[in-house]
Amino acid sequence: MKFLKLLLLFFVVQMQAQQGGMWIPSLLEGMNETEMKNLGMKMSASDIYDVNKSSLKDAVPQFNGGCTAEVISSQGLLLTNHHCGFGEIQAHSTVENNYLQDGFWAMKKEDELPNKDLEVTFIVKIEDVTTQILSGVEMLTSEAEKQKKIQENISNLNKSYTKESYQGIKIRTFYEGNQYMLFVTESYTDIRLVGAPPSSIGKFGSDTDNWVWPRHTGDFSLFRIYADKNNLPADYSKDNVPYTPKHFLPISLDGVSEDDFTLVFGYPGRTTEYLPAVAVEQIVNESNPAKIEIRDRALKVTDGFMRKDKAIKIQYASKYAGIANYWKKWIGETQGLTKSNAVQVKRDQEKAFQQKVVKAGKQAEYGNLLADFEKNYNEILPYALSRDYFLEVMLRNTELMGLGFKLYQLEQIQSTRGDQAFTDRKNNLRDGLGEFYKDFNVQVDEKVFEQLIDLYLNKSPQQFIPADLKNTNITKLTADVYGTSKMTTYDGVKELLDGDTQTVLKNLNNDKGYQLIKALSDAFLKEVNPKYDAINTELNALQRTYMKAQLELNKDARIFPDANSTLRVTYGKVKGYNPRDAVAYEPVTYLGGVIEKYIPGDYEFDVSSKLIELYNAKDFGPYGENGKMPVNFIGTNHTTGGNSGSPAIDAHGNLIGLNFDRVWEGTMSDIYYDPAICRNIMVDMRYVLFIIDKYAGAKNLIDEMKLVHPKNKKQSSKKQKIKNKKKKN
Ligand code: ARG
Ligand code: ASP
Repeated sequence: MKFLKLLLLFFVVQMQAQQGGMWIPSLLEGMNETEMKNLGMKMSASDIYDVNKSSLKDAVPQFNGGCTAEVISSQGLLLTNHHCGFGEIQAHSTVENNYLQDGFWAMKKEDELPNKDLEVTFIVKIEDVTTQILSGVEMLTSEAEKQKKIQENISNLNKSYTKESYQGIKIRTFYEGNQYMLFVTESYTDIRLVGAPPSSIGKFGSDTDNWVWPRHTGDFSLFRIYADKNNLPADYSKDNVPYTPKHFLPISLDGVSEDDFTLVFGYPGRTTEYLPAVAVEQIVNESNPAKIEIRDRALKVTDGFMRKDKAIKIQYASKYAGIANYWKKWIGETQGLTKSNAVQVKRDQEKAFQQKVVKAGKQAEYGNLLADFEKNYNEILPYALSRDYFLEVMLRNTELMGLGFKLYQLEQIQSTRGDQAFTDRKNNLRDGLGEFYKDFNVQVDEKVFEQLIDLYLNKSPQQFIPADLKNTNITKLTADVYGTSKMTTYDGVKELLDGDTQTVLKNLNNDKGYQLIKALSDAFLKEVNPKYDAINTELNALQRTYMKAQLELNKDARIFPDANSTLRVTYGKVKGYNPRDAVAYEPVTYLGGVIEKYIPGDYEFDVSSKLIELYNAKDFGPYGENGKMPVNFIGTNHTTGGNSGSPAIDAHGNLIGLNFDRVWEGTMSDIYYDPAICRNIMVDMRYVLFIIDKYAGAKNLIDEMKLVHPKNKKQSSKKQKIKNKKKKN
């Protein structure tokens, strides 16, 4: 009995242990490869990453710094999310040609649209450079000296490393400073827009459905990489030609079933999976609630205006989406951390860690770590909270104060770098402000300010609020600032910035809006920020040692490095989940679900008549399945922001899905991954193909792709099995 229990425990641990983690593609051999094969993968690690022959990594560039994309044809056709290409689609849109609203399809290459400042970056090679970067660091005693030496080593290696002239180098730290990796990169800058569905498909469900399952969004767009005659990176030229990739992903028409193996390959931005319990506790109890409350108020005000006024709705649509995205994520994250008991789980792990330290006789090195964390986190709390309030209220959510802070920095430049630097920056700032005022509405911002300054003055840690701002009458302050400040209009701010340095500084310092942001910035930069930085440096050093200890004391554990915007592999299975008691979610959604959500004329849930016709006629081409059209599916792949646009790949290396989001209950996966409720959301590739082919009629694009049927073989072997079974019976 005991043995059985142990065995069961072993399997449960195994089951959970197999998933979660974002792994370095050059280091998959061994544990990861075994796990992936156990999950059903039919490839080998070298099919995913290889420096000597083409491999999957050659088809997966980073898209414009913050997203991922994949090459899906021999002519450099590139697939990413609609929300990743949103800026480009918007930039090409006008009232007459509203590509955001109606979609855009290039039926021939001449129609593809070039984009300013858009680049994709491939990884050529990954190399461990830990020894070079940490050389001479160990013997230094102060943390500041260590960091300085590391920076020196990095810049030396950057200079001395041999590479081609068109290649770049990135050196990044892994495991919080315990490992360093060098990436040789190739960046292409002539990237043209090829196709985008209308927002009613690409952004279907908008903010209401964001971070939510069941989901029905066709979140994709298409671009093409262009290169010079030698297939090398080149700036836009009409003489450039479509890029020939080292590898492109074939697309599977067979779709997915529950428990199928999936691998997601991309550039996850940032996670903090190894925080001590005390840090997670602060996120749950202090920082998330504060940030959520601030954005709650800002969003409520803005939404009120957007619903009443069409012009305001356009002005604030993109800003609102950005603010709502993380607001909603934090709410889900807090609930998930609470529900999964993350703090207690961490406390238990810490107890076990402490025992291991004793057992290994390492008290001198690691015995005080947890107590030191506790002490430093308690000490940093008021500073960290105050910083959250400053960043959220002043810089992120009240536009006038955000602009005021830029002017404050301008004044700082004058005092640190002199008149010429001041004038250069001033002119630059002034010319760029047209964009800002185009989407600025002073009534909206005034109401947001009134709500948020109240929180700032009354709920942020009081010891850092300047004395003369305590017990302020909020209504009066708001009326004073917005009634008199010249910053409320473009003409006003141009007036403020007119004249020689002394005049500008005098005018600024006479402005009530400027006076307020200056007083608050001074207080923040003097009383809060230096102390925050000092304790934070301390915490980073502790985190590095804690990581080192875990790696040392848990030799066989699956410890993956936190995300850092470098290329990673994560893998799992197609899987539903139970969000709440008695509720079970299936892993696949269908076009019928789009029709169920359809609200005619609604800005989030409208459906175009063309799509409804195709649905009613069940005209799904070769992309449907048993008379239904799959739309989205979920899996246990561990992803985060930056993974948007990442390919979901099947057991054989074919493209089956396009990653774009996570489920609400599992957004805590940035801090604590729980395989029971953490799921990533992907668009089924068959839906992408259906929209391109049947909805848009862009057959030209389908023709350049490679469509495959990898499951055919499996299907016949299934039949075989059934036959065998029958024989037995
Ligand atoms: N939640 C996804 C991500 O973090 C998608 C965001 C797209 N924006 C939106 N408001 N729907 O990026
Ligand atoms: N939607 C995110 C992105 O844009 C992905 C995620 O956070 O799951 O990268």
